[in-house]
Amino acid sequence: MKPVKIGVLGLGVVGGGAINVLKRNAVEIARRAGREIIVTRACARSLNKERICNTDGIELTTDPLEIINDPEIDIILELIGGDSLAKDLISIAIARGKHVVTANKALIALHGNEIFEQASAKGVMVAFEAAVAGGIPIIKALREGLSGNQIEWLAGIINGTGNFILTEMRDKGRDFEAVLAEAQALGYAEADPAFDIEGIDAAHKLTILASIAYGIPLQFEKVYIEGLTQVTREDVNYAQELGYIIKHLGIARKTAKGIELRVHPTLIPHRRLLANVDGVMNAILVQGDAVGPTLYYGAGAGAEPTASAVVADVVDVVRALTTDPENHVPHLAFQANSITDIPILAAEDIQTAYYLRLNAEDKSGVLSEVTKILAKHQISIEAMLQKEPLEKSMKHVPIIMIMKTTLEKKMNAAIEEIQKLAAIKDKVIRIRMETLK
Ligand code: HSE
Repeated sequence: MKPVKIGVLGLGVVGGGAINVLKRNAVEIARRAGREIIVTRACARSLNKERICNTDGIELTTDPLEIINDPEIDIILELIGGDSLAKDLISIAIARGKHVVTANKALIALHGNEIFEQASAKGVMVAFEAAVAGGIPIIKALREGLSGNQIEWLAGIINGTGNFILTEMRDKGRDFEAVLAEAQALGYAEADPAFDIEGIDAAHKLTILASIAYGIPLQFEKVYIEGLTQVTREDVNYAQELGYIIKHLGIARKTAKGIELRVHPTLIPHRRLLANVDGVMNAILVQGDAVGPTLYYGAGAGAEPTASAVVADVVDVVRALTTDPENHVPHLAFQANSITDIPILAAEDIQTAYYLRLNAEDKSGVLSEVTKILAKHQISIEAMLQKEPLEKSMKHVPIIMIMKTTLEKKMNAAIEEIQKLAAIKDKVIRIRMETLK
């Protein structure tokens, strides 16, 4: 059989990694796919840059349309990122009847509904395993391996850069900026690292996971997002004293009222496996009604882990080249005509437990004022810790409280009142907490 010809758009970390893996493992890959797979053309903004891959035998260009318009090319790998040029190129590729493999989470989260509709109309596949959690085959697991289950919830560390920063700061006391610079040098971070730090990248990935888990349209704009910059060493230490680790999690949970979609720093019990996922590693815990909890772990960023997912998608597409389009696995796991608009809950309607840190005047009666407010809002305290003043001369002491699960709306109202107490100095710190049971 004729080899399948691939055109690669983008020769950065992921594009370079994909070419290396496709070349190095060509024989094994062909045995799995049933056809030889070769990269014949690739495109990059500049052709004179040093690359992580050897491009011998690959025709290079700076014009992506030359590749997309080439009738010899069967599959386009879109590995340039971003959501404007990439979107146009994918749209043209689909219109030309090409199958597409992409690692572009922003693009899928923001424009996936439209792209999949276009691809289905043309009978082509758009595969995106590499868009979520780097090398972990979580899309395949959710879409195929767990298709007998109702997904009750999923929670994951889905940004490698953020996890790398939190781990290095906690374990080595390193400075935020220095760790971020290292993550950039290692090719983990987004072109704009604010996407990693502010939780946007994790929210893109959560949007995709939730669609596949619940058969809902992709709706990034409804994800509640909090970044990790507000996590201080002080809170990391207090959390540890209470038996918790702070992780930046993406959480999707189906409740009777709708679906919670949220990305924020989260205290989790230190004995949970997820609490021990460090550095650039990602992990996703998925709770299915039939299977119970399942955990997926692996490198969440980096050239070859991401390439591993890209190449797996290429193999899947090649295997399905001769199948009728109606027999392809649906893009979002559920048949397109079964995608249902289940409501996404507003942030104030989510239910979770909380860690609060107050800086309170060290005098009698303050604690009772605080607990009175909590009781008024029917919020129950699980644990509490009052620290000595950091220095003898200090008139305020840190009070750390763990609250049982409550409605966010109630917690907001209570915090607003606590904040107004004369004895409370500085902003009340609130971090959400999950037991992950
Ligand atoms: N910037 C992303 C991360 C890359 O750090 O997880 C992988 O999606």
